[in-house]
Amino acid sequence: MGSQIFIKKDSFTKDPSTVKFTFSEGGESKSGFIVFFEAKYYAYRNKCQHLAVELDWDNNEFFEDEEKFIVCATHGAIYEPSSGKCLMGPCAGKKLEILNLKILEDKLIVTI
Ligand code: FES
Repeated sequence: MGSQIFIKKDSFTKDPSTVKFTFSEGGESKSGFIVFFEAKYYAYRNKCQHLAVELDWDNNEFFEDEEKFIVCATHGAIYEPSSGKCLMGPCAGKKLEILNLKILEDKLIVTI
């Protein structure tokens, strides 16, 4: 059975913003993040599609300066927040892995 992560909606301080979380998978600690972008929520595994590294350049910092795109800290791949699609960089055309997200009135539930 998969694990569930509960995140309160008020954890998102602004639009856009992200909340990073960890979960255990196959005995290893992995991470994912929820993006709040243009008033909608999206959940992704925190793993670049170029190499198996986390995307954030500092803890829970996923956006580039203009806060329009998610950027990979390692080689600068640019991802679209609303689709997870890599628009530019070594993994162009690939997509972040979407995690199952359920949106309730006051909280979000990610099921791994
Ligand atoms: S590891 Fe993300 S762009 Fe290379």
